[in-house]
Amino acid sequence: MSATATAAANASASASAMIIENPDQLSGAVLAEIERAADPRWREIMAAAVRHLHGFVRETQLTEAEFQRACGLVARLGQLTTASHNEVVLAAGSLGLSALVCLLNNGGGEATTANLLGPFWRAGAPRVEQGGSIVRSPTPGLPIFVTAWVRDRAGHGVEGAEVDVWHSSAEGYYENQDPAQADMNLRGKLFTDARGRIAFRSVKPAGYPIPVHGPVGDLLRAQGRHNLRPAHIHFLINKPGFKTQFSQVYSSDDPNLETDVQFAVTRALVGQYVLHDGEAAPDADVSGPWYSLEHHFVLDRGDDAWPRPPISGKAEGGRPELTLLERRP
Ligand SMILES: [Fe+2]
Repeated sequence: MSATATAAANASASASAMIIENPDQLSGAVLAEIERAADPRWREIMAAAVRHLHGFVRETQLTEAEFQRACGLVARLGQLTTASHNEVVLAAGSLGLSALVCLLNNGGGEATTANLLGPFWRAGAPRVEQGGSIVRSPTPGLPIFVTAWVRDRAGHGVEGAEVDVWHSSAEGYYENQDPAQADMNLRGKLFTDARGRIAFRSVKPAGYPIPVHGPVGDLLRAQGRHNLRPAHIHFLINKPGFKTQFSQVYSSDDPNLETDVQFAVTRALVGQYVLHDGEAAPDADVSGPWYSLEHHFVLDRGDDAWPRPPISGKAEGGRPELTLLERRP
């Protein structure tokens, strides 16, 4: 065969594999192209994604109009994501995806104190000494004194772990959402002592509604779900040799523990937020009621990589309106 004829035959053979004959052959063609990728894990993930996506379209017999809406929804998730808001993470949480990834990747089959990172962690929180306050501008709410212990699976305290803490105000805003709060208000970084302990002071957080101005709001309205998270404090614990742990400790008195919009509450993370009335507080300037919280975290051995911050800055302009959705009975 001449060189020209061989080239023509090759071109024809390669083109015929991509001439689409029917839906099943189409899926096969896409999967075959994925096999060309060099990275085996990438191939595994993408092949599974294509199988499930094509299977989803078949199972639902997705119409063209529905497909166009779905594409618009995905685009909107990205368009709404800014330095101070992450609609993608919010959507993943609202579908239970974040909780599933967390539960499958932590504890090695045992109970875990790991939880979701959430969309509100910012890197660079200021250092706080043991017993110090993370309140950086006047913030309403009752004082809370938090003590937490970080241990390994054998029950030994982990010394020198870096612990970021952050939470919403009693008015339901993280500082990044709220121009009225100082930069990094209700955020801090502590290091565990020789017993694996940190202690800090703040104001007791309230449950808060997640933002519903985008596709996440549409999702919740369609299902008749409320948009509240039970009150909680976030922890991010990092120590070389251990798997970086994200956690949240939920307030035992919150009415929305069983209907968390992010599906994140586990039994290990319902914390006892104890109200003290008429008792002396750890700090002399507290005269009225106050709360205490004590909680234990267990680290597993593993990768100590830091996560990528879902946001990097603070919102500007006015304080956003908080919208509450009703849960349909
Ligand atoms: Fe949160």
